[in-house]
Amino acid sequence: MTEPALSPATVAVTAGRPPRIQGGPVNPPLVLTSTYVSQGPPAPGELFYTRNDTETWRALESALAALEGAALPALAFASGMAAIAAAFSLVPRGGRVVMPQHAYGVSLGLAHELAALGDIRLTLVDIADTDAVTAALAGAGDPAALLWIETPTNPMLEVADTPALAGAAHAVGALVVADNTFATPLVVRPLSQGADVVVHSVTKYLAGHSDVVLGAALTSDEALRARLGSYRTVHGAIPGPFEAWLALRGLRTVALRVERSQANAAELAARLVGHPRVVAVRHPSLPTDPGHERAARLMNGFGSIVGLRPVGGAAGADAVVGRVRLWLPATSLGGVESSLERRRRFATESPTVPDDLLRLSVGIEDVEDLWADLDQALRG
Ligand SMILES: Cc1ncc(COP(=O)(O)O)c(C=O)c1O
Repeated sequence: MTEPALSPATVAVTAGRPPRIQGGPVNPPLVLTSTYVSQGPPAPGELFYTRNDTETWRALESALAALEGAALPALAFASGMAAIAAAFSLVPRGGRVVMPQHAYGVSLGLAHELAALGDIRLTLVDIADTDAVTAALAGAGDPAALLWIETPTNPMLEVADTPALAGAAHAVGALVVADNTFATPLVVRPLSQGADVVVHSVTKYLAGHSDVVLGAALTSDEALRARLGSYRTVHGAIPGPFEAWLALRGLRTVALRVERSQANAAELAARLVGHPRVVAVRHPSLPTDPGHERAARLMNGFGSIVGLRPVGGAAGADAVVGRVRLWLPATSLGGVESSLERRRRFATESPTVPDDLLRLSVGIEDVEDLWADLDQALRG
């Protein structure tokens, strides 16, 4: 009898558990060792040194793969950026990378650095403009080697048509990498929409408690996984076993957390639209949002990040951040606690991101408490 496919909420709770044996633990043990007893060449899959592999990663990696629908275990990395750097290593020297102009600032920083070294060439695009991205991939006889997708983008919340873009990328022989940090596999599974590799900042929603920095890369392609795994080993871009264990512990509640934070985000976005001290709001749940129709068609939700431009320009936005009492003024996102920041305070942020844009990471608190605090901070 074939087992019925489990829903992602169930997979998050059940995947990566130890075998059910009498007296066995229900959670994977945290194994703190740098090396394993080993003599002679290790057999395939045998543990021998913790920079290469460890059983505590394996539990997390199998759970992440089950959630993303990857045929092969994930590769856990030291951080989201370590996984992203590994993904960029897939580009052949001098290959052209097509990337959202509003991708995560540090991913863009890495791409610019690689371009300055001559390792890659970079074409920045509006990832929501499918025709423009398709043309950029073809490149008038200079086809791209890699398409980078972030959907929605950080922090502008542009929504990509991943299936269409993956088709266009593959037609010119380009690999497709999707950073699925914002959406999470609860909302979209890019591998099922044509991506070759998915990367995550597990730091954010997957771990979910702002207490661990960790990344992951996933693919169903053996050769790509081997290359990413080799990158991890030779660059030493590895998480500690404790971080992997903490991330798996956090992952158990990801479905509940994402459900609640998305509902909070949609409610706050709807209220903010009519607020007298607000110039603009961005959240794909809003029927007026440019990404709404596409997100409704391609995603199983609208995410928990809201873009907010209060009155008064950058100074007005800074004043709002200064007045919140419940919301946390902090970078990062995806924790249980709500936080906000003005992204352009970082010099590395794209100049096309409005100076007054606040990125709100909506958490799982009571929505009325979040609203009351935001409202008083906006009113000043
Ligand atoms: C979309 C996105 N990708 C990647 C990263 C980098 O992840 P990490 O901070 O775990 O290196 C971030 C961090 O904010 C992010 O927002």
